[in-house]
Amino acid sequence: MRRTDRRRPVWPHGGYRAKKVSPPNRRFIRADILEVFEHELGPFNSVISAYTVHHLTDDEKGALFAKIFTGLIPGGRAVFGDLMVQSSEAKALKIQAYVANGDTKTAQDIEEEFFWLIGAAVANLSQLGFLVKTRRFSDLSHGIVAEKVN
Ligand SMILES: C[S@@+](CC[C@H](N)C(=O)[O-])C[C@H]1O[C@@H](n2cnc3c(N)ncnc32)[C@H](O)[C@@H]1O
Repeated sequence: MRRTDRRRPVWPHGGYRAKKVSPPNRRFIRADILEVFEHELGPFNSVISAYTVHHLTDDEKGALFAKIFTGLIPGGRAVFGDLMVQSSEAKALKIQAYVANGDTKTAQDIEEEFFWLIGAAVANLSQLGFLVKTRRFSDLSHGIVAEKVN
């Protein structure tokens, strides 16, 4: 007799259904990123955001960072991947460079979207009490890990 694993249902073709790996106690909430912390779900071990914060103005980013800091446990981390440039000066140079290369669409996006200014964001996060690390992914994409130090 063949031994079968009863926990893993066998598909008609003989293969196994991929094991679902999802965190326990997960909930999905549709909310404005600036209002989600008002749902009193925390405190959180980590907060992750991909390519959303560049829709917020600089003031809104600052407000979000403060809410995240309050919402994290000590030692908790905020992880961001997003469209970022180092500074206002770097932003102007990027726009010029993309125009010079004939990529006016990207130049216009940099102009119109609220790209993070890494220097200002790092200063803001550090002032709140985060230990901040940055990493460049590509010309316009960067990552930031902000750890709430105890
Ligand atoms: C470029 S998409 C990124 C989507 C996804 N995070 C990803 O990495 O594929 C930006 C997303 O941000 C959402 N967004 C923009 N402003 C937001 C806000 N204030 N609160 C929550 N989501 C927002 C948009 O609806 C959109 O789905």
